[in-house]
Amino acid sequence: MKKGLIAIALFCIASYVSAQDINLLSPTKTGGKPLMEVLNERQSNRNFDSSKQLSTQTLSDLLWAAYGFNRPEKRTVPSSQNRQEVDVYVMLSTGVYFYDAKANKLILKEKGDLRDVLGQPEISKNAPVSLIYVINLDKNGRETGYMDAGFPVQNVYLYCASAGLGTVARGSFKRPDVHNALKLTEKQEVVLVQPVGYLK
Ligand SMILES: Cc1cc2nc3c(=O)[nH]c(=O)nc-3n(C[C@H](O)[C@H](O)[C@H](O)COP(=O)(O)O)c2cc1C
Repeated sequence: MKKGLIAIALFCIASYVSAQDINLLSPTKTGGKPLMEVLNERQSNRNFDSSKQLSTQTLSDLLWAAYGFNRPEKRTVPSSQNRQEVDVYVMLSTGVYFYDAKANKLILKEKGDLRDVLGQPEISKNAPVSLIYVINLDKNGRETGYMDAGFPVQNVYLYCASAGLGTVARGSFKRPDVHNALKLTEKQEVVLVQPVGYLK
């Protein structure tokens, strides 16, 4: 009886904890605008409409385009020696999450609206989603990491051009603030931030 109650209590705790993660949907791997049109339309935009959210399907497709797996152990982007030293964190108004591409989930790292730490509030506070590219210096060198981080950024630019979304790569933010907000280790480094959303 006692063991049963403990099991139920543990199950409830586990459900509560995992309830804060976000299950993504299977990404749509077909369709979209033709590549040459998308290249012609790629551009930076900063005028986000804070009243329009991305659907879970759009968020799932965006993340897969950025950094999902398209083959066993390989992703939509290249990386030097396939070290995959970039991680993508996702900042929403509800918290900051780690994109677990294999599990197709967003794993909650920190709860609450932390978008202030991204700086440029006229951009960051209006964008419903900001991707944060973090490199792991124990997997690859810093220079290589900075190069490899550019690929998902461009994938997101192209996905946004295809899906009618706006985005901009952003390097001007206070790195220590973002580092601390994400509770990163000394072996991790924030490279770029990329807000995404519908435009006004
Ligand atoms: C590494 C990098 C850092 C950037 N940092 C910022 C930034 O902090 N703020 C911003 O508004 N735009 C930023 N941009 C966007 C550039 O200003 C933009 O790409 C450039 O003006 C060319 O415009 P386009 O992307 O529309 O072609 C950055 C772009 C890159 C590639």
